[in-house]
Amino acid sequence: VPTQPTIGVFDSGFGGLTVLRALLPLLPHARFLYLGDTARLPYGSKSRETIARYAVSSARFLLDGGADLLVIACNTATALALEDIRIAAAPIAVLGVIEPGALAALAAPPALAPPPTPTAPSPSGPLIPGPSAPPEILVLATPATVQSRAYTHALHRLGLPAIEKACPLLVPLVEEGWIDHPGTREVVRIYLAEALAGQPRLHTLLLGCTHYPLLRPIFEQTLANLNRPLRLIDSADATAHTVATHLPALTSSLQDPNTPVQTPTALPQPAPPPCTFYATDSVEKFAQLGSHFLGQPLPHVHLIDLGG
Ligand code: DGL
Repeated sequence: VPTQPTIGVFDSGFGGLTVLRALLPLLPHARFLYLGDTARLPYGSKSRETIARYAVSSARFLLDGGADLLVIACNTATALALEDIRIAAAPIAVLGVIEPGALAALAAPPALAPPPTPTAPSPSGPLIPGPSAPPEILVLATPATVQSRAYTHALHRLGLPAIEKACPLLVPLVEEGWIDHPGTREVVRIYLAEALAGQPRLHTLLLGCTHYPLLRPIFEQTLANLNRPLRLIDSADATAHTVATHLPALTSSLQDPNTPVQTPTALPQPAPPPCTFYATDSVEKFAQLGSHFLGQPLPHVHLIDLGG
């Protein structure tokens, strides 16, 4: 009976590798299966039905591969299809990126603005700002994620009024490798200037798309140029920590009752390789672009076909 959990990490493409990057040091004993559905990317410009169909078939592939836990490391799939994936995966647990991202925004102290509306717990639950409360969090994401309003709802449940802005050009620019390019700088400047205009209470910028952390230096520089040094957060680290909190229970549920319980530090090192990578389109491009997201070279990437 295996005692090292296998964690399936799914994204529409490369971006979820930023979540895997945060997971690897936190969970050195886990095995990882990573699937990038690059043939059907981008998800962010598609309908809910299509996104759910793609995401569920991708999740099934990881479950068939032996995943004991699924991490939906894609904002668009989390926003539009988390419930569909959970139904398909039951009883395997499925974690998305939006709740951890929203919680990270709550934990992040404002860099600039006056303190946000107090959110002290009340007997009737967390405060939910009315629709007229001035926004404090700006979420940038794909058109599908923004349309779902999943971030707005998650943040409002935490007492944080938010606005969202769709940035449809950013995923293609990152896919093109324009990570430090004047064209990308100009697009980011236009998006930020539009979103920030008339919103003086904004203190946090939440990057609600897996591709955007790669543009972090451009976001920081542009905010500084606009004299709006908002606090910048993304959900990769927060998601990895949420996964880590699930691991002890998962590990003990996998434990053979006849073998003594091992502490995590007593577990043997995982047999190499701890990560197996799958993509549904050009594995060469996946390995090349993916190394930017993962922060290290990728080993062999397996090409798979999930249909249309
Ligand atoms: N992974 C998607 C997200 O985080 C971005 C890429 C896409 O649109 O498929 O929203």
